[in-house]
Amino acid sequence: MNKDAIERAKEKFGKLLEQQLARVEKIKKEPDWVDYAKMKTIRIGILPGDGIGPFIAKESAMVLRHLLAPEVKSGKVFIADIEGFTIERRAAENAAIPPAVMEEIRTFDVTLKGPTTTPRKGDPWPNIESCNVAVRKELDLFANIRPVRVPREGIDWMFFRENTEGAYAMGSSGVEVTDDLAIDFTVATTQGSDRLIRAAFEYAKKAGRKRVTIVTKANVIKTTDGKFLSIGQKIAKDYPGIEMDDWYIDIMTAKLVDTKRRNQFQVLALPNLYGDILTDEAAEFQGGVGTAGSGNIGKRYAMFEAIHGSAPRMVDEGRAQFADPCSMIRAAAMLIRHIGYGDRADKLEMALDVCGQFEKKLVMTGRSTGATGNQFCKYLMETMENPDLKKRWEGYMKA
Ligand code: IPM
Ligand code: MG
Repeated sequence: MNKDAIERAKEKFGKLLEQQLARVEKIKKEPDWVDYAKMKTIRIGILPGDGIGPFIAKESAMVLRHLLAPEVKSGKVFIADIEGFTIERRAAENAAIPPAVMEEIRTFDVTLKGPTTTPRKGDPWPNIESCNVAVRKELDLFANIRPVRVPREGIDWMFFRENTEGAYAMGSSGVEVTDDLAIDFTVATTQGSDRLIRAAFEYAKKAGRKRVTIVTKANVIKTTDGKFLSIGQKIAKDYPGIEMDDWYIDIMTAKLVDTKRRNQFQVLALPNLYGDILTDEAAEFQGGVGTAGSGNIGKRYAMFEAIHGSAPRMVDEGRAQFADPCSMIRAAAMLIRHIGYGDRADKLEMALDVCGQFEKKLVMTGRSTGATGNQFCKYLMETMENPDLKKRWEGYMKA
């Protein structure tokens, strides 16, 4: 009886290994980073998502269109909605991403995505894979970049979370060997670790940052985390101007709350699951996951998203118009920077700081006691176009 179970598990494991080795071959052949400046038209797709998603996506798209208006007019940028990326459609087709929708997504160079519902056991939805995870895999968006900034406390972190491997690579392919034994797998490849850590060092170099911190649990998860760490150590030698240090994830989560030590961290590179957890903790210092944007970057495609959930309760209670769009707008700013319009992104980020953290002429509470997302966006756009924006922002930062 156990023997059969073991044979079945072995066979399944064999298939998984084949898939992962095929993925390695694909990474080896991947072309270099795309150059948006050389593209005739940069195609930006909006994926509204579920729950409050369509509400905050509408506001975010308005801000995006406003900032890129000259490029849209000249034809350098094209912006359109992509339909069908909803939990209802995914459930109906029993697919993480309906194939026709995925095909459409591939016709866009970059996407801006609203929050989506991730089914879990016990939900009314079929237990399909998270569509976030699926898009990251499909488009090979291997670097999840998540900035966290609290200027007044000297916090300026940039997380590079590996986004296609680790515990996520086979997260939906674990094996229930018998009723009593369940096994999951975690994956690290040389190529996958290398491209992520290199992206972190390249970012540090370009941004003038002096330190890259590698976070693992290589003292216990010796094989995969061990690989990630040793590749980090090797890559560090190519960047003599940048210091590298390494920490274990447990003490790292503690150090992030150590106000005397945490300012020393600048750029952090880490495997998927640790990155998932640590970036939620980090976002909390900035005001919570609702204030953070996130970029999923690959060499060919990129997707930018809010990092919070789809808040179905807000929709059920009829208050979705009061949902705060700022996390998705932060993601829009990252998108704008990524495709080469850093000046516009600066302006948007300054306006987000002024409206959301300093001036607060309108406050969002998520209910009718506060502003609607639309009112807030109008306030944001007015602030953005005020010629004194930079002076005001600098004044607040000094205060
Ligand atoms: C995130 C989210 C996702 C993840 C979930 C929704 C699958 O928590 O983007 O951090 O774990 O990656
Ligand atoms: Mg997360």
